[in-house]
Amino acid sequence: MKTEFRRARKPDELRSLEIFDRKAFHQYPDDWFSREDWKAFDAWWLLVDNRKIGCCAFEHQRATLYIASTGILPGFQGQGFGDLMKCWQIAYARQHKFKRIVTNSRKSNKPMIALNRKFGFKVLRTLPNYYQRPREATVVMALHLYQLPAFTGSSRTSSP
Ligand SMILES: CC(C)(COP(=O)(O)OP(=O)(O)OC[C@H]1O[C@@H](n2cnc3c(N)ncnc32)[C@H](O)[C@@H]1OP(=O)(O)O)[C@@H](O)C(=O)NCCC(=O)NCCS
Repeated sequence: MKTEFRRARKPDELRSLEIFDRKAFHQYPDDWFSREDWKAFDAWWLLVDNRKIGCCAFEHQRATLYIASTGILPGFQGQGFGDLMKCWQIAYARQHKFKRIVTNSRKSNKPMIALNRKFGFKVLRTLPNYYQRPREATVVMALHLYQLPAFTGSSRTSSP
């Protein structure tokens, strides 16, 4: 099985992103992103054997990487691909020197909240009535990425 992450090509893949969004978030039509939203996001596919099975959307906000969307197609959920995507998102943020990652999801979205917690995200706040139809609060979560100090050699003093 070959897995890879690839940046979505725009405008060629905007339609494909919209269709994917509808499949991953089929139960909440009001949460679907518009074509204009997708145009603005830095969107990435998770490809398994060249098939688009996952997608995520970033906004680069100075020192913060905001994850606007994370989705795995229903037929591929529960097989570790969410873990793989979260690992990759964190590696991406570290590699690009972001200081923290912020994301949010419906309060009832137990799988997403559990996935974020598993990787060390903490709840920042809950905002009531953030989503419409059904009306629901959002849980905002963040992960701080502390950079390791540069190695400056041994701290031991040599004996006389
Ligand atoms: C949330 C989502 C990305 C998880 O992807 P997945 O491939 O099913 O997840 P995995 O199989 O890799 O599981 C990883 C972790 O997610 C959490 N998780 C996944 N399914 C879960 C469930 N049904 N209940 C509770 N936690 C769950 C667990 O922490 C799990 O780790 P564990 O197996 O060690 O307990 C996926 O369910 C999804 O795309 N949902 C629809 C879109 C969505 O709601 N996105 C979030 C809003 S931005």
